Amino acid sequence: MQPATQPVTQLSDRVERISLSPTGAVLVAAERLQARGIDVVNFGVGEPDFPTPDHIKQAAVRALEQNLTKYTPTPGIGPLREAVCQWHRREFGSAYELPESVITVGGKQALFNALCALVNPGEEVILPAPYWVSYPDMIRYVGAEPRVVHTDPADGFRLHARQVEQHIGPKTRMLLLNSPNNPTGAVIPDEEFAPLLELCRARNLWLVTDECYSHFIYGGRKPFSVAGLPGAKSHVIVAGSLSKTYAMTGWRLGFALGPKPVIDAMTKLQSQSTSNSTSISQYAALAAVTGPMDSVRSMLGEYARRRAAVLESLAAIPGASCTAPEGAFYVFPHVAETPRLRSLRERNQPADTAHIAVDLLEEARVATVAGEAFGAPGYLRISYATSLDRIQEGIRRMGTFLSA
Ligand SMILES: Cc1ncc(COP(=O)(O)O)c(C=O)c1O
Repeated sequence: MQPATQPVTQLSDRVERISLSPTGAVLVAAERLQARGIDVVNFGVGEPDFPTPDHIKQAAVRALEQNLTKYTPTPGIGPLREAVCQWHRREFGSAYELPESVITVGGKQALFNALCALVNPGEEVILPAPYWVSYPDMIRYVGAEPRVVHTDPADGFRLHARQVEQHIGPKTRMLLLNSPNNPTGAVIPDEEFAPLLELCRARNLWLVTDECYSHFIYGGRKPFSVAGLPGAKSHVIVAGSLSKTYAMTGWRLGFALGPKPVIDAMTKLQSQSTSNSTSISQYAALAAVTGPMDSVRSMLGEYARRRAAVLESLAAIPGASCTAPEGAFYVFPHVAETPRLRSLRERNQPADTAHIAVDLLEEARVATVAGEAFGAPGYLRISYATSLDRIQEGIRRMGTFLSA
């Protein structure tokens, strides 16, 4: 008897347009090595290495004890929606009210649902590069195309309104901003946001601001949101997240703020997909946004020390160059001119950073993410959300590898 042939798996065009998140792939490879007892320095993870602060964990325990474990309203419990609006007002001077808010399953769902609610197939979204890995696939998933604006490393990867203006076409629907930026750590100057907002208003574009790293800004600068500017509310959607600010990545808690019709559309979508974000996480989030910010300040202090250490060690690697990040917890060194990559190119061997990141993990046991994933070949992303010792060890290994 002939063996039955495996049926060809027909997937939808939508899902065929996207791929698995490349940052996830690095983590899997690194974890596989670690499971074999191999010592890997993991610069791949994009999450704080600090525990969730105690008062937030205690609020979750209380929610459990009080059996607050049922469905909640789709857009979240009222006290949390109210508190998120007040938190955003206090931190950034915005003026959102409860009906202009929705609690989401992480910042990711806020971004995804905003794109689904506002962008049609065939339209375009302006995306500054280097960009966070998930944006292009989210845009393609809704049938739209990313219109990439390359920022200049010599200018600290900063985005300026005049660059955006040159990329606006008849199909442009949205500008997607992320400041502080993952992967570069670049921060859009506060004064640049007014012309960016003005441009969006004049050309009737949505301005989506991903504020995931809002509170990790160095040099004593205050966190900033374009949503706090006069006239912002009609064109701005805030995608917020508690993941990094309060070391709550696993709790899956984010939010969106924006005009009520958009929030209603996002809520409708959520009502037919995930429903509410986890009830226990919502009570924990309520404690986070109404509680003290000390833990946020102490994490920032620790990141600042690590940032200085990583920059100092990277500076000693011949041929590597690196813009000092102004925010987040990543550095994004350019490594294409290091001796190893130069010599590979001279010998016509693969010298793209996608290959280099794999070799770096296999040979030197350091996990990074290749610049290709962020629209910036020639770079490697290093997350310094790890201890000073590991940072020093990892950069030492990288130095040896890249100088070989
Ligand atoms: C730029 C950026 N936006 C959004 C997110 C999503 O965060 P979460 O869904 O955990 O809130 C991340 C996570 O790494 C990120 O780096």
